[in-house]
Amino acid sequence: MASTSRDLFASEANDEAVRGTCDDASQCKRYAVNMGYWKDPYIEYFVRQPKERKAPEISRGYYARVQGVGRLLKAFLQKTQCNCQIINLGAGMDTLFWKLKDENLLPRKYFEVDFPSIVARKIHYIKSKPPLSKPIMESHSGESLLIDSHSLDSSRYAIIGADLRELLKLEENLKKCSMDPQLPTLLMAECVLVYMAPEHSASLLKWVSGFFPTAMFINYEQVNMTDRFGQIMIENLQSRKCTLIGVEACISLDTQKERYLHNGWERANAIDMMMVYNCLPPDDIKRIEALEFLDEKELLEQLMQHYCLSWATKDSQNLGLSEITL
Ligand SMILES: C[S@@+](CC[C@H](N)C(=O)[O-])C[C@H]1O[C@@H](n2cnc3c(N)ncnc32)[C@H](O)[C@@H]1O
Repeated sequence: MASTSRDLFASEANDEAVRGTCDDASQCKRYAVNMGYWKDPYIEYFVRQPKERKAPEISRGYYARVQGVGRLLKAFLQKTQCNCQIINLGAGMDTLFWKLKDENLLPRKYFEVDFPSIVARKIHYIKSKPPLSKPIMESHSGESLLIDSHSLDSSRYAIIGADLRELLKLEENLKKCSMDPQLPTLLMAECVLVYMAPEHSASLLKWVSGFFPTAMFINYEQVNMTDRFGQIMIENLQSRKCTLIGVEACISLDTQKERYLHNGWERANAIDMMMVYNCLPPDDIKRIEALEFLDEKELLEQLMQHYCLSWATKDSQNLGLSEITL
């Protein structure tokens, strides 16, 4: 019994550290936005100005991630002509909904899921800051908008407080917010699955592939984690009491692809972030490389080779989702 309560305490402490990663991610993004890597007029409402300087390789890594995910996402919106839904899993303080609205690229409905305490914080920011609440109100039509401390449901945007390891509850909550499994659906997870045990991320991917006949999953997280650099990354996070319990799926690009293919997906792709970086238009690379001086490129390359973008598709409506590439 004693060891059970110790285990529970340890797992709750790890969940708390995982929730803390949301602030790290948004601070790094805000720093990169301030430095001019990309534009995001909404991030300032979710996170304070970081006090410390971030290394240029971190900002370049975030740039490649935002561009890489953005390209795949826009290809999906194009194939479906925005007649689709997006579910952002472990969304943290992500600002994608607001940016898509500005670009006139909103899907039929955009959902976000995160732990209830993160969602409560996000709802508080949305309620108290008009630049965040106005776009939700403007895109809302029909009956009155539902909002409480742990969920918000409008016609085009919903945010749900749920644990991604509890799939029945997740499904129930999404259904309550009018999620339609028959609509082509894009699910995205940026630095989220690695914080879940391999059996939980596998179950999540299996649930998605079984539930949505036409779907794409975009995942961004670590890869090549068995070498020395990968071990140091694991130890660094461990020292901040955050365990990468899902690291088993992050051994190689092949293990990343296999996880999809073993869990009901038809096609899977995975490339490391150095490859993503090298796919970006030369003018963009030139522009961002001029923003901050980087002494030696070796660390940037090592870092980029330890993160990857993977995506998988299932296409019962034959929309050509398997053709989507960077
Ligand atoms: C590193 S942050 C990334 C946030 C966001 N995707 C981004 O890229 O800015 C990881 C997020 O996943 C969420 N998360 C991790 N495990 C989760 C789970 N089991 N259920 C719900 N949310 C989870 C955390 O709370 C956190 O907000």
